[in-house]
Amino acid sequence: MDAARPVAGSGQASAPHGFVWGASTSSYQIEGAAREDGRGASIWDTYCGQTGRITNGDTGDVACDHYHRYPEDIGLMRDLGIKAYRFSVAWPRVLPKGRGAVNEAGFAFYDRLIDALLGAGIEPWLCLYHWDLPQALDDLGGWTNRDCAWWFADYAALIARRFGDRVKRLATFNESSVFTLFGYCMGGQAPGIADHAMLLRAIHHVNLAHGAAIDVLRSDVARASLGIIHNYQPCLPASEAPQDVAAARKFAAYWNGAFPDPQLLAHYPALLAEAMVPCQQPGDLARICRPIDWFGLNHYSPLYMKAYDGNPLGVGFGDMPPGIRRTAIGWPVQPDAFRETLLEVHKRYRLPIYVLENGTSNNDSIDQNGEVVDESRIDFLRSYTSAMFEAMKAGADVRGYFVWSLLDNFEWGSGYSQRFGITYVDYATQRRIPKASFHWYAKLIKASQSAPAQV
Ligand code: GCO
Repeated sequence: MDAARPVAGSGQASAPHGFVWGASTSSYQIEGAAREDGRGASIWDTYCGQTGRITNGDTGDVACDHYHRYPEDIGLMRDLGIKAYRFSVAWPRVLPKGRGAVNEAGFAFYDRLIDALLGAGIEPWLCLYHWDLPQALDDLGGWTNRDCAWWFADYAALIARRFGDRVKRLATFNESSVFTLFGYCMGGQAPGIADHAMLLRAIHHVNLAHGAAIDVLRSDVARASLGIIHNYQPCLPASEAPQDVAAARKFAAYWNGAFPDPQLLAHYPALLAEAMVPCQQPGDLARICRPIDWFGLNHYSPLYMKAYDGNPLGVGFGDMPPGIRRTAIGWPVQPDAFRETLLEVHKRYRLPIYVLENGTSNNDSIDQNGEVVDESRIDFLRSYTSAMFEAMKAGADVRGYFVWSLLDNFEWGSGYSQRFGITYVDYATQRRIPKASFHWYAKLIKASQSAPAQV
């Protein structure tokens, strides 16, 4: 990467030539059209249908209606000035039962989306799996069934053959530790299981699926640039009590290490290694540890953990220290943790890093002028992009930043009660209103692309 150069508006300024500015979303959170054009059910359609799972009983049935409104949303991306857009494919939209018969209408939607992005000069970054497992596969055990790894590889082969001529940036999974820990052990996410043995099997089979899919994508997509998207956060003890210190160390092994370590270092974290043995077959770690080109990093805040007997893991989220600013969803605002995380990931895994999610929830509203003036989100983005530039100056090989998210969207268990977008979505009318942070981010991108190279 060329020398860093100043970027106006971000405080600590330096973005090397070729730095990629983007925005991210995911299929279940924005598409809607949940039962349209042959889409099959996902585990999140099922989970949202279970009473009490989602705030206000919200679902992804309509979401941001992106399935129909994607041309307007690409117009927003063009106005924003981003050159890359990260989205995910809904597995059950293209394979309604997860395997077997394909849904041509589903593939046609992503063809239209990808062609429209390329037509707007925006590079598509495609994530294969952002949590919406086909329900039909969950009925067969889902990620607790080793066969799911090969079903995923077959799905990856279809994506490669259909889109590989136009899409070169491909990620296998988004936040594997989040959807396995919360979906199979700690609660709060689909499919709503709380069983430690099933968690371990899910972890191992997702790792196998990643390795198998990387091999398929590498062979079927010419000039592919392959990666995976991990959440990575300091897991700190909520108190100095020995049980909380032990809980934080244990959680860090699952939350940060259970996927990048076997995938990039060919071993599980020491605290997990013995527990993972029963899930493994000879040669599995070689199947999992396959060469990739970049490390996708999602980061919002550090976590404060405590010993907790309310779930099979024995770890829960504790109180954070007093005096730390929180976002609307209750997460601490600590940009220093982001800087340290970037340096840690750089030193441990030695891959180019793309920040593929960073942003904040905010209690946004439309003011009397019809505007959404989200100053606290601007403060958040300014402080976190500054921390990123500091990490880069200290040697972290960060090559891009994608804001979470382009649009307000379905925030999983919180439904639509949490707004993470730089664009406000009025769900009653589906009207999009670029927020003040949208314009701030556009200026940051423009300054980055026009600032004089640092001598
Ligand atoms: C995640 C997911 C996103 C979330 C976002 C805010 O990191 O949990 O990738 O789908 O919506 O991070 O929680």
